Amino acid sequence: PQDALLVFQPSGRKGRFPIGTPILDAARELGVYVESVCGGRGICGKCQVSVASGKFAKFGIESSEEGLSPKGFKEERYDQKRGLEPGMRLSCSATLQGDIVIDIPDAFRVAGQTIRKDANTLGMLRDPAIRLCYVELDQPDMHNPMGDGDRLCRAIEEQFDLENLRIQHHLKAELQKILRNGNWEVTAAVHLDGPQPEIVALYEGLSDEMGGIAVDIGSTTIAAHLTDLSTGEILASAGVANPQIRFGEDLMSRVSYVMMNERGLDDLNTAVLKAVNDLIGQLLDMSGRKRSHLLDCVFVANPVMHHLFLGWDPTEIGQAPFALVQSTPVHVPAYEIGLDLPKGTQTYLLPLIAGHVGADAAAVLLAERPQENVEPTLIVDVGTNAEIALWNGTQLFAASSPTGPAFEGAETSCGQRAAPGAIERIRINRDDLSCRYKVIGTEQWSDEDGFDEAVKTTGVTGICGSGIIEIIGEMRLAGILTDDGIIRAPESEAEKQVLVEHGRTWSFVVREGTPRLVVTQNDVRAIQLAKAALYAGVKLLMDHAQLETLGKIKLAGAFGSYIDPAYAMLLGLVPDCTVENVRAVGNAAGQGALRALLSRGERRSIEETAQTVTKIETALEPAFQQHFVDAMGIPNSADAFPLTRA
Ligand code: FES
Repeated sequence: PQDALLVFQPSGRKGRFPIGTPILDAARELGVYVESVCGGRGICGKCQVSVASGKFAKFGIESSEEGLSPKGFKEERYDQKRGLEPGMRLSCSATLQGDIVIDIPDAFRVAGQTIRKDANTLGMLRDPAIRLCYVELDQPDMHNPMGDGDRLCRAIEEQFDLENLRIQHHLKAELQKILRNGNWEVTAAVHLDGPQPEIVALYEGLSDEMGGIAVDIGSTTIAAHLTDLSTGEILASAGVANPQIRFGEDLMSRVSYVMMNERGLDDLNTAVLKAVNDLIGQLLDMSGRKRSHLLDCVFVANPVMHHLFLGWDPTEIGQAPFALVQSTPVHVPAYEIGLDLPKGTQTYLLPLIAGHVGADAAAVLLAERPQENVEPTLIVDVGTNAEIALWNGTQLFAASSPTGPAFEGAETSCGQRAAPGAIERIRINRDDLSCRYKVIGTEQWSDEDGFDEAVKTTGVTGICGSGIIEIIGEMRLAGILTDDGIIRAPESEAEKQVLVEHGRTWSFVVREGTPRLVVTQNDVRAIQLAKAALYAGVKLLMDHAQLETLGKIKLAGAFGSYIDPAYAMLLGLVPDCTVENVRAVGNAAGQGALRALLSRGERRSIEETAQTVTKIETALEPAFQQHFVDAMGIPNSADAFPLTRA
């Protein structure tokens, strides 16, 4: 038979197929993901596509002289029952009639913003670990003794091209009832990311709801997204403070808590599980989705959080050689780890890269893919621990550095978490040394009209991490802070107005009133220690990667999003680089978790990448100490920072 050219957008994949080939079949052959729950029966409507150029005749009349073809009939029936939007076609029913370009609708959005839209990534991202399969079964008959479950498996295997399908044990108790209540029409949720495909949930009739959650368990905050697994659309997002904070602010104090208390592990595990279970409930309420249709979850976390979440003792991670229980990815049913989800719901935890470099760092690598760049790229994800990844053009290196919570607004006298009321931007007038500032949740600066009105409900409560970085940078620029980070004694009249004695040191008054906000010498020290730890970690990786300079710097995480790169350079948080090449990339760990939730291909890709990473243990490297001492200077006592100074 004659053939014709078929092109899929946005992937650009194309091929020639005989006239009359259903578009869905061609998509499968070209590896283009088009969803199909009903196996091409024209019932689910999930396989819809539109025509970019070329044409189909209406409802398959094109393929039959006499009128509707059987496929066209199905499409017409679907249109009458559920309505096809103008221009949309069922790809299982519409057949190739001549050269044509097909658009696969792009519902892939992350938190309202479109994720990187390059075609291949998008195509790849639509292969979730769960597939919904709708089948219509024959009723049992006495002459065929095959069990109902076996017939269900055979039917799905045949229609969805699967092999060795099995049914999870817990489903067998209710399987026959579901088949009969559904009048022998059922939808099975099949998990495809295990050693063999498994039916993990079974619904009466046609069901096209398939949800998943991606969770980033940070030491300070837990953030989760509920996603439609077939479209990739984020349906709800929520976050909560990690309740483990009451057992210890930083990771090592939580490990000590486990070591010193008989029920320590249980306390920490229960706390994080409760928080995640509450978040799941919140996401379900917000989205109106059903718990029974939440089928897959992905978690990312640093190694200590990862172990505590799974109920594993993290003691060994607290001391050299920092041995992990398991560094390879974890696949486990959600209910087995204590999540309040159906028995069939699956979880996947990304691989851990090293004793201190976790699944969160792996997720950042998955989202940012530094290894696809030609130029040397540094990625830092700053939290209580800084996760650092470096690509030198041929090899990936990773480390983590204990920055502590100062960047998150803790451990400083005026510091607070980023929340409404916190100062996030600040400038010092070079003449009278007065401060003008901007508070989270307002548009105006403090010296502009309407500011008092804008902060009426929140007040001005403290200074968050990015604000502290700016104020210290501004103090340096205003000449009241030395290269060693000492707030010097006042000389001029203006200085006497803003510098006040504090024991044997000086403090800088940001704001009089309630609360009175000052930056003390100890505050500057806390930031110096944090930034020195970060910088020393980066320098160590650069030594190993034999790099003198960097091409690009990406700042990930909430802190990375708020911080002004110019001030980060001014204080020497990261190596010297032109400011234009320093970029905030948002919550890259969360984005990586979403990618793993939506795509098995992404999972395999990070599993492979994780194997190739050279891990550096900062704690064991003698050079770390020297880099650390040098980095206490502002911006640095050993490195010149010519680009920043210029
Ligand atoms: Fe279900 Fe086309 S695959 S309608």
